[in-house]
This record gives sequence, C-alpha cells and structure tokens, in this order.
Amino acid sequence: MSNRYAVILAAGQGTRMKSKLYKVLHPVCGKPMVQHVVDQITKLDIQEMVTVIGHGADKVKAQLGEASHYALQEEQLGTAHAVMQAQSMLEGKEGVTIVVCGDTPLIKAETMESLFRHHEELSAKATILTARIDNPTGYGRIIRNEEGLVEKIVEHKDATDAEREINEINTGTYCFDNVALFEALKNVSNDNVQSEYYLPDVVEILKKQGEVVTAYQTNELEETLGVNDRVALAEAERIMRNRINEQQMRNGVTIMDPANTYIETDVVIGQDTVILPGTIIKGKTVIGADCQIGPNTEIESCEIGDETVIRQSAAYKSLIGSRVNIGPFAHIRPDSDIKDDVKIGNFVEIKKAVFGEGSKASHLSYIGDAEVGKNVNIGCGSITVNYDGKNKFLTKIEDDVFIGCNSNLVAPVTVGKGAYVAAGSTITKDVPGSALSIARAHQVNKENYVDKLNQKK
Ligand code: UD1
Ligand code: MG
Repeated sequence: MSNRYAVILAAGQGTRMKSKLYKVLHPVCGKPMVQHVVDQITKLDIQEMVTVIGHGADKVKAQLGEASHYALQEEQLGTAHAVMQAQSMLEGKEGVTIVVCGDTPLIKAETMESLFRHHEELSAKATILTARIDNPTGYGRIIRNEEGLVEKIVEHKDATDAEREINEINTGTYCFDNVALFEALKNVSNDNVQSEYYLPDVVEILKKQGEVVTAYQTNELEETLGVNDRVALAEAERIMRNRINEQQMRNGVTIMDPANTYIETDVVIGQDTVILPGTIIKGKTVIGADCQIGPNTEIESCEIGDETVIRQSAAYKSLIGSRVNIGPFAHIRPDSDIKDDVKIGNFVEIKKAVFGEGSKASHLSYIGDAEVGKNVNIGCGSITVNYDGKNKFLTKIEDDVFIGCNSNLVAPVTVGKGAYVAAGSTITKDVPGSALSIARAHQVNKENYVDKLNQKK
C-alpha cells in the first residue's frame, strides 16, 4: 500500500447557510459536520491529515484539535486554491491523497477505503467518488466520453442545459496521486461563471495529459449529501439520526418511535433499555442496561446506572445511579451525584448536590449545593436556602434524617444523623443528631373569636 494523505476543505463561509456560525461547524446530531468527516478519516490508515481553514479558522482548529494539521486559506478563491494551501506540507510526497469537503458529514470510512482501493488497483492519477441521484441540482456533473470514460467535471452553474440533464454527480471526495495533484493545481484557472479556482478542473487537466482518470460510483447515496443550506442540513440530520437509532437498536436498545427519538453520536446505551418517544439524549451520555427513559425527556452528558427510570424530565452533566426513579417533571442540574435506589419525584429540582443511597425527595423540592446522606426523606415542598443574594452555601443532611414538609434549611447548616425536622420549620442553626427540631411559631387558638367578630357587625 502506498502512503496516504488527506486534505479536508473547511475554509468556506457557507453563504447559503445564512448563519453567524461557519458552515462546517453546524452540528449534525450534535457533532459539527467537519468533525464527522475527520472522525471517519481517522479510521483510515492515513500518514498525514491537513485541514484547510479560513472562515472561523480558530474555531475550526479549536474543534478539531490535534487530530489534524492545518493550512490557512486567507481568501477563499475556490476549492483548487484551497488544496493549494497544503502545498508546503504535501507537495512532492509520493503517495495518494484523498480530498474531502468538510460539508459532507455523512461520508463513511468504508466508502473512502473502497475509493482508495479502486484508485490504487487502476493505478489512476485521479479517482472521483460519484453517485447517480434523482435531483442533481447544485452538484458538479460527471462528463463521460463515448467510451464511458470520465472526461471532466462541469459545475452546475457552468453547465449547459444538456449537461444539467446528467444525474451522475461529483460527491466532492476524490483520490489523487499526490505528486500529480500539486503539479496539476498550478494549471487550474478561474475562467468560469464564479471566477473561482475549481478543484474538479484537475480531473480534466490530468485527462488531457493522457493520465488515467476514473470514477468510483457509490450506491450509498445517503453518504454523498453536500450540505450547503439548512434544508440539506435537516436532511443530513434525519439520515444521521436514522443511522444512530438503527445502530442502537441493533445493539439491543428498544426505541419505541425512532422518528421521534434524538440520540447524539457519542451516546452509549445498554441492552434492554427502552427509550420512549420525544426523548433527546445528548453529549457524552452513558446509560446502563434495563433502564426506561422518556417519554419527553432530555438528558445531556449524564452517566446513568442500570434499571433506572426517568420520565418527562431533564438531566444535565450529572451522575445518576442504578434503580433510581426520577420524574415525572424533575430537573437534575449539573454536578449532581445521585446514588443508587434514590427517588426524585415530581417538580423536584436538584443542583450540585450529592443525594445518598435510598434517599427520597418525592414532591415539590429544591435541593441545591447540598450533601444528602443515605435513607433521608425530604418532605413535600422542603427546600435548601442556599443563596443570600451574593454567595452560595452548603446544606448538609446526614444519614437517616427526616425533613418534614415545607421546611426551609437556611445554609450553611447541618442536620445531624437521624434527626427530625418538624414540618414548616425554618432551620437556621445546626440540628444535632437524633434531635427533633421545631422552628416555627407556636399555634394559638382563640376560641369563639369569629362569632364575636360577627356580633360586632
Ligand atoms: C463542490 C464541488 C462540486 C461537488 C460538490 C459536492 C467545486 C468547485 N465544486 O461544490 O463539484 O458536486 O462540492 O458537495 O469544488 N472551500 C474552501 N475554500 C474555498 C471554497 C470552498 O475551503 O475557497 C470548502 C468549503 O468550506 C466546503 C467545500 O470546500 O467545505 C466545498 O465548497 P462548496 O462551496 O460547498 O462547494 P459546492 O458548491 O458544494
Ligand atoms: Mg458544498
């Protein structure tokens, strides 16, 4: 096998997206388009990867990090000009270079590998990944001669009516003999409708020099989508979503309504977990086996154990144990650590709190900046008062504590092991272990008071 290099084109603004965000950074199932491309290329045996950046260069670099080298294209004069920016890094090196556009997020490593193989088997100087699609509008068309051999690529905007009838398109992915590529690039002109230096023109230049130029036509039509506007972005999202859901189902996850389930690429889910409709699972979430998630639940970057049930709730950047029961309508905010066998019921908000094994907050509570021990029962409507308007303070509730309904725990405060807090208390001082604390006004009953009032009238 020859040396292999990759060039990813990611310098364009993406005018047709009509967006502040640079095109290749638009996410598909939570991951920027260009990251999808790089992740697939990383699976191949590549000696050197160069990403051409320009618009939003710093942001693209920050996104991709060390995975790639970078070449800066200061002015976006076209795709050939873009590849030319990698000249100092790649020119003259023996081997094969794959060029991929950063706006084709659905392309798979397997397809690129087949492209490489085809290119190498035919000892070609250029091999274009092509596809036949129903609506080729906007794509470059593959022009073949009478013998069926590739002659050149004509961009949609430059094509004649007859050429526009051709439905074999350039997917924007190619393999080139690296030495020939950088030689040919020097001869590309910008004499076309868009006054741009087109990379596809390299094909015609090599052909005219009598070199072997071929096409590898893929049947994986869904992989070839180039995202230039938000309509195509939604299409890419739909295809990627199906792919992810299908993979999860094949791994043993039940998804009741895949068309209404939104799982990002890096999510891991265990066997026999059931995902109910309207559920969105994002980021680096890991869910164990035998869980039930949803309906209508949003989970972002959480680690969840086995046999946990989360209904109609939201959970972010937190740890959630096994056999935990959350919701309906609960809110788990970042940095929470909910241990095994916990119950978090309806209209309960947990923020930056450790919630110990077997403890319960079943209804209408706010528990923020807290350390809750094991087997604690937090009564309906009880809250931690963690904020004095300037600073946040910690509430500690030790094991086996019982907090009566509608209590306020004014932090910083500790309720000792096994203590009871009477309903309606506002606790401002520490409660010793095993004590009963009552912090509310004594009840006064004025006998017959209402009758007397009525007599005065
Ligand atoms: C390109 C191809 C077209 C093909 C289609 C497949 C050209 C001239 N046309 O068209 O034949 O059918 O992709 O999706 O190549 N870029 C740069 N610098 C530039 C210009 C573009 O880095 O100066 C990058 C863009 O960020 C983008 C990629 O190259 O990721 C492709 O550019 P785009 O403008 O989307 O080309 P298309 O019109 O889609
Ligand atoms: Mg494009």
